[in-house]
Amino acid sequence: MSVTRESFGFMPDGTEIYKYILENDAGTQVHVLTLGATLQSILFADKNGETKDLLLGFDTVEDYLTKSNYQGATVGPYCNRIGGAAIDIGDKHYELVANEKGVNNLHSNGEFSYRPWKAIVPDADRVELSYVSPDGEGGFPGETTVKVVFRLSQDNRLSIRYHGVSTRDTFLNFTNHAYFNLNGYASGDILGHTLRIDADRFTPVDAHSIPNGENMAVEGTPFDFRTAKKIGLEIDADHEQLKMTGGYDHNYCLCDAPRALTEIGEAEGDLTGIKMNIYTTLPGVQFYAGNFLSGKEGKGGVPMTKRTGFCLETQFYPDTPHRPDFPSCLYKAGDAYESETVYAFSVSAKDENA
Ligand code: BGC
Repeated sequence: MSVTRESFGFMPDGTEIYKYILENDAGTQVHVLTLGATLQSILFADKNGETKDLLLGFDTVEDYLTKSNYQGATVGPYCNRIGGAAIDIGDKHYELVANEKGVNNLHSNGEFSYRPWKAIVPDADRVELSYVSPDGEGGFPGETTVKVVFRLSQDNRLSIRYHGVSTRDTFLNFTNHAYFNLNGYASGDILGHTLRIDADRFTPVDAHSIPNGENMAVEGTPFDFRTAKKIGLEIDADHEQLKMTGGYDHNYCLCDAPRALTEIGEAEGDLTGIKMNIYTTLPGVQFYAGNFLSGKEGKGGVPMTKRTGFCLETQFYPDTPHRPDFPSCLYKAGDAYESETVYAFSVSAKDENA
């Protein structure tokens, strides 16, 4: 195992951004940027021994600051959407930035995602990034200190552990917004990937992508991924919820409260045989099929067009601050938020015809 560091460029104010490269003895690499605690690349050998980069992303700081849709970024203090872009805690009212269509707060307007974080290497298999969000940043209460540890094991498990604490009572909901393409980022759309999600229910949304109050069973709908199927099989089916969001872009309900690390699904690239098993301690996961990717050029100048990457953003449910019936993510001042998500990579049998 090794961790090495190289320069990745500079922020407009001159702050240097570093890339940390975690590599195990099998040659698997995970690249993490201090900009937004971003997962930039995962290099993994496919069934024919060819190394693929499994993440959408960019080659420069400037591209991350000007073209990104959160590719690989850490999102917080509250990922996903807060309807009305405002929260109430006790008798206090906090106005947030309405950065989505002037109505929702989405991904905290990038508060955590486009800042320089500090990094240390506590051990030869991990890098720890930290960020202190000042009280009131983006409208959110409290000075919030967050640490994210990315760790790669010898058996190709990438663990992401989050720790957060704030000086005021606040809602905390962190995620990583990796866009995966298990055939490699330059291979086209992800519709041929198979996906399994171990969830019986999901939270349907209104026209602004805010949970509409129902808790819908996946049974008998295109949202049923309890048995693995191709992402593309029913993505354009005539279902009101798919039409509303232009394809899958929904929170799946995994459990009622944070729990021990549990496997929640699996994806596989049809061209590479690269498999990814997903584990998390969190109660929800947003399955987003990259429907809004609009062709911006990413790594190597390759355009990131519609559905060329998919996200499985482990999280508390969207709009939890307005939903007492959802698993709570309100943390008292000084109380620690902790979560872990693991993406474990492997390859299905070698292609006999290769
Ligand atoms: C959202 C999508 C959004 C994407 C990029 C996802 O978490 O659900 O609707 O386009 O993030 O912001």
